[in-house]
Amino acid sequence: YINNELLLILAYLLGSFPTGYLAGRLLKGIDIREVGSGSTGATNVLRTLGKVPAIVVLLIDVLKGALAIAAVNFAFTQLPGWLYYTKVVDVNLANWQPWMIVLAGLLALLGHSKPIWLNFKGGKSVATSLGVLLAMDWRVGLSTIAVFAISLAISRIVSLSSITGAISVTALMIAFRQPLPYCLFAIAGGIYVIWLHRTNIQRLLTGTEPRFGQALPEQP
Ligand code: G3P
Repeated sequence: YINNELLLILAYLLGSFPTGYLAGRLLKGIDIREVGSGSTGATNVLRTLGKVPAIVVLLIDVLKGALAIAAVNFAFTQLPGWLYYTKVVDVNLANWQPWMIVLAGLLALLGHSKPIWLNFKGGKSVATSLGVLLAMDWRVGLSTIAVFAISLAISRIVSLSSITGAISVTALMIAFRQPLPYCLFAIAGGIYVIWLHRTNIQRLLTGTEPRFGQALPEQP
């Protein structure tokens, strides 16, 4: 059967839609990966292009993650019977819906950070993970936003708040009694997002990570 694979490819392609890169190209004619942190995410868009583009990029990047999960849920529950009949979707795998959601979520994160269109150099998948979480369980998503916001209010550092949020997701999944696949998503996705922040972690350790909206120190 094809078909569950197609959902995963769709999840990767949704994640890899290069929102921040397009914003840089369209608004300033630049490659956003050559300025600031080099990330295509909303934080680097804020530094480079300003508030409104950053908010738009943030919202679209959140939507990408949510859509990847919504597509799986739709395929498993809403598709008309004839599509099942023609084996566009393999119903025998219906029990695997939570695992498909997890795989689609991870592939959306992969797509955002390693987009095929941009030579596999994208963003840090924070907004896209948030979209995945909101679609998995909105309470977990909103609680993660709260952890992020408190951390940002205290530290004024986005990357540190993203890392704090990524760590908190596993605890939140358990607290809200989510199924095992979602808890494993929180662990795997959290580790991946933290790994994507490795240059930020180096700057945090040397005290050179910029605060919210500030420019990065000049590269040597
Ligand atoms: O969401 C990404 C953020 O945590 C860090 O972005 O551009 O400062 O590396 P940036």
